[in-house]
Amino acid sequence: MTAPVTVGPLTPPPAVRAEGLTKTHRSGGGHEVTVFAGLNCRIEPGERVAILGASGAGKSSLLHLLGGLDRPTSGAVFYGSQDLYAQASDQLAAFRRRHAAFVWQMNSLLPEFSAEENVLMPLLIRGTPHAEASRLAADLLSQVGLAARRTHKPGELSGGEQQRVALARALVGSPSVLLADEPTGNLDFQTAAAVAGLLADLARDRGFTTIIVTHDQAFAASCDRVLQLEKGGFR
Ligand SMILES: Nc1ncnc2c1ncn2[C@@H]1O[C@H](COP(=O)(O)OP(=O)(O)OP(=O)(O)O)[C@@H](O)[C@H]1O
Ligand SMILES: [Mg+2]
Repeated sequence: MTAPVTVGPLTPPPAVRAEGLTKTHRSGGGHEVTVFAGLNCRIEPGERVAILGASGAGKSSLLHLLGGLDRPTSGAVFYGSQDLYAQASDQLAAFRRRHAAFVWQMNSLLPEFSAEENVLMPLLIRGTPHAEASRLAADLLSQVGLAARRTHKPGELSGGEQQRVALARALVGSPSVLLADEPTGNLDFQTAAAVAGLLADLARDRGFTTIIVTHDQAFAASCDRVLQLEKGGFR
């Protein structure tokens, strides 16, 4: 389904490890919710792992922590030997930009920009020269089957096409780890299966590690492993 690979992660992706991971959310009213406590897991380089669990089980909270987007109440997340949260915020942000990329349920594309401009954006922010960035963006858009749609704005694309652009944008910087929170949650069954298949093809071709939160049992079953989050821990 995908074109031959032109770029992959610059180095083999690191294993992602959680050690004693605990998250307590504190709300404005002083109310505390401990979503999970003492979680341990290890995700191997290049592995595709699905996180399943009921609504409110803490899947998004866990994904944010595994992606370096939040700070744990206690415990640690390692990418290889790097302890993510031992870093100051600006170092963590730079590390995250280099190694992690995200796809969300609701498309987060910039509506005023074309598909190609959306995919280019992370590279331009990172200082990649425009010609090189354009080449990489065009490559990625053709790998997700949207070469003919590159000048379209998000509003001119279907939901499935928008998620393909979001995938291209996430992968254009060759991240080590792709984290996705219900990436097919807004799509019909057939479109969801196509996006899930594309994600698997790209992961196989490019070698990145994938961590996917999903309610879709078929999508989860197609992954290498399922982590089931329940009552504050893995079942
Ligand atoms: N910023 C926050 N402040 C306070 N409580 C929060 C915050 N974020 C999440 N929570 C609470 O933590 C629990 C887990 O939320 P989380 O969003 O991780 O669940 P989820 O498994 O992703 O659910 P869903 O499937 O509905 O997306 C919920 O009870 C939620 O209300
Ligand atoms: Mg969630």
